[in-house]
Amino acid sequence: MIYQGNAITVAKNGEGIARLTFDLKDESVNKLSGAVIEELGEAVKALQAESGLQGLVIDSAKAVFIVGADITEFHGVFEKDEAFLVEMNQRVHAIFNAIEDLPFPTVTAINGIALGGGCEVALTTDYRVMADSAKLGLPETKLGILPGWGGCVRLPRLIGADNAIEWIAGGTENKAAAALKMGAVDAVVPGDQLEAAALDLLARAASGELDYRARRAEKTSPLKLGPIEQMMAFETAKGYVAGKAGPHYPAPVESIKVIQKGAGESRERAQAIEAKAFAKLAKTDVCFNLVGLFLNDQLVKKKAGQYEKQVEPIQQAAVLGAGIMGGGIAYQSASKGTPILMKDIKEEALELGLKEARKLFAKQVERKKLTTEQMAEKLSHIRPTLSYGDFGHVDLVVEAVVENPKVKEAVLTELEGLVDETTILTSNTSTISIDRLARNLKRPENFCGMHFFNPVHRMPLVEVIRGEKSSDAAVAATVAYARAMGKTPIVVNDCPGFLVNRVLFPYFGGFSLLMEQGADFQRVDKIMEKFGWPMGPAYLLDVVGMDTAVHAGEVMAEGFPERMGSLGGGGDKSAIQLMFERERLGQKNAKGFYAYEEDKKGKPKKVVDEAAIALVKEVAKESRELSDEEIIARMMVPLCLETVRCLEDGIVGTAAEADMALIYGIGFPPFRGGALRYIDALGVAEFVAQAERLAEELGPLYAPTERLRQMAADGARFYA
Ligand SMILES: NC(=O)c1ccc[n+]([C@@H]2O[C@H](COP(=O)([O-])OP(=O)(O)OC[C@H]3O[C@@H](n4cnc5c(N)ncnc54)[C@H](O)[C@@H]3O)[C@@H](O)[C@H]2O)c1
Repeated sequence: MIYQGNAITVAKNGEGIARLTFDLKDESVNKLSGAVIEELGEAVKALQAESGLQGLVIDSAKAVFIVGADITEFHGVFEKDEAFLVEMNQRVHAIFNAIEDLPFPTVTAINGIALGGGCEVALTTDYRVMADSAKLGLPETKLGILPGWGGCVRLPRLIGADNAIEWIAGGTENKAAAALKMGAVDAVVPGDQLEAAALDLLARAASGELDYRARRAEKTSPLKLGPIEQMMAFETAKGYVAGKAGPHYPAPVESIKVIQKGAGESRERAQAIEAKAFAKLAKTDVCFNLVGLFLNDQLVKKKAGQYEKQVEPIQQAAVLGAGIMGGGIAYQSASKGTPILMKDIKEEALELGLKEARKLFAKQVERKKLTTEQMAEKLSHIRPTLSYGDFGHVDLVVEAVVENPKVKEAVLTELEGLVDETTILTSNTSTISIDRLARNLKRPENFCGMHFFNPVHRMPLVEVIRGEKSSDAAVAATVAYARAMGKTPIVVNDCPGFLVNRVLFPYFGGFSLLMEQGADFQRVDKIMEKFGWPMGPAYLLDVVGMDTAVHAGEVMAEGFPERMGSLGGGGDKSAIQLMFERERLGQKNAKGFYAYEEDKKGKPKKVVDEAAIALVKEVAKESRELSDEEIIARMMVPLCLETVRCLEDGIVGTAAEADMALIYGIGFPPFRGGALRYIDALGVAEFVAQAERLAEELGPLYAPTERLRQMAADGARFYA
């Protein structure tokens, strides 16, 4: 044994081949925490001191190679100043360079996932062999940073600047075949032949058949690119990537600049450039929030995993209603492999539902994600039906019929009599209380809410709503089914609007107040889109549909009359209600706040509509001059406050779940981390002061809760 630590061992075999193995104690995966990097430094020193070595294999004793740096350490470390961070990365560079400079040929055996720092470890060696099931990539830019342990320096020298830009700026996870094609790895073999392949490469390097010194020289010298190639690789890429990432995500473009600046430099100088840029990005709010988002996502997944463990997977599902939502649910279930019965009362509805599913599958075939055979097989997982004939063998039913409490109650009671006693019933209702729907059921414990978002195949969130009588088993089965469908389930308690709509409608309330004050809705849309929302509130209302918005608004008004009364039409008519009255329903009838035309691809394209502008003017009581900041506050404060209330009322369990639900359910700007993180970023005290000012002018929709005031006084935060 040459070295033995908690995460790394180095041993030597009879032929003088050293093997450095990552196997982090008491963990299921290998991660590069600060402590593991320290060990790696020690291990490399031991290798340097050992005489008679002929070669080195770096490998892993776990199912993964190395998943990356330990992201749970990021917030703490990134708090330090830039100079500290530069110095920290330079220390890692010294260790990695020492591996790269060992006086014998080296190879990494990539048996499983090798991401971020894990990929960068693999890049230090002369050769890489990869199991055919493994994945390789540098996803750092997705966390708002860039590869900081030499990835921006070594990868372009290995696979060319253009390919490296694709991997790094795109943050892609790459399959073995792609990695081989680009030259990121030297061989791809089945997992059980990995060791032999690694040793074979070393033997060929030792015999002189392979010139490992030449390879190493190539990887450590400046990139050879002419001015035209430079132009092609970097300038074009920067423009393209900037457009794709948008103004709120600087890391992808920064990573290209780092590759460019370092291209003509020696290894050490290029690494210094990388370290500086890394430190700068690590200090940004965007990075802080994206790292927070990653951690929140892990927590949400862990919670779902705990539910999932309690139940058997759903073998056969069913959906009632083949409309927009029912059709989407059937597609998603079939697409991810759970067979589903799709029942409707109308033949035409079934045909439409199937047509939609077929269209979505066909798109996958077009994109080469599916073969036509696979498409046929997946489509056969959807069984359309007009009868309850086969419902005796169904594990879980999603009710997605029209949003009418009487119809839903009737459908659910009828259904309960036809299914097995253990079948779980769920409802995709957006506005009807789960406890109300459970009222007439004989087995209310087998019932809960399963609220999808439109379009089902694209929106990641599923709210699982626990009614007063819902059993753990019902909630667990529903969570498990949502996971099987590739969705992110978040369990919430029952209340009007559940979590996401309860938080969204006060935002629309803020919008209506702005319209009363004479704000221009197109300007509001632009400002909120610039703030980071995928679409502004007027555009979003067009997508949701004015009928749906008015109906849900009424439910919210009834549930929370004090602060949301105006959403129900208690006072003067809002712009939304007026739109509804004048039959401007939004995209569904091609006119709302905007008018809609079909673009070349047959998708609705919004255009300015003077009639809508005139209509909105009818509700304006004044023509207030408002700054962009004031508009943002008027929109965001009610949304954030309602999120706070949901947390205080126990509708949602944690700040992390609340924030993730908003990001996954309504596209809250991810780089801002969610409503509660947004309050933290402003400072709770500053937020409360802002809310109080607005409440004086605009009423209870803007009034902070007692507990939030207390938090402000105590200097507390939502995230430690
Ligand atoms: N559209 C959305 O954005 C959205 C989002 C989340 C949740 N929801 C909820 O999903 C549910 C369905 O909404 P949708 O937009 O798909 O409506 P939809 O009108 O497109 O579809 C409803 C379907 O239910 C069928 N139906 C009616 N009675 C039935 C019965 N007794 N048995 C079987 N089928 C019956 C209708 O024929 C129709 O095909 C509603 O509760 C709605 O609130 C909708």
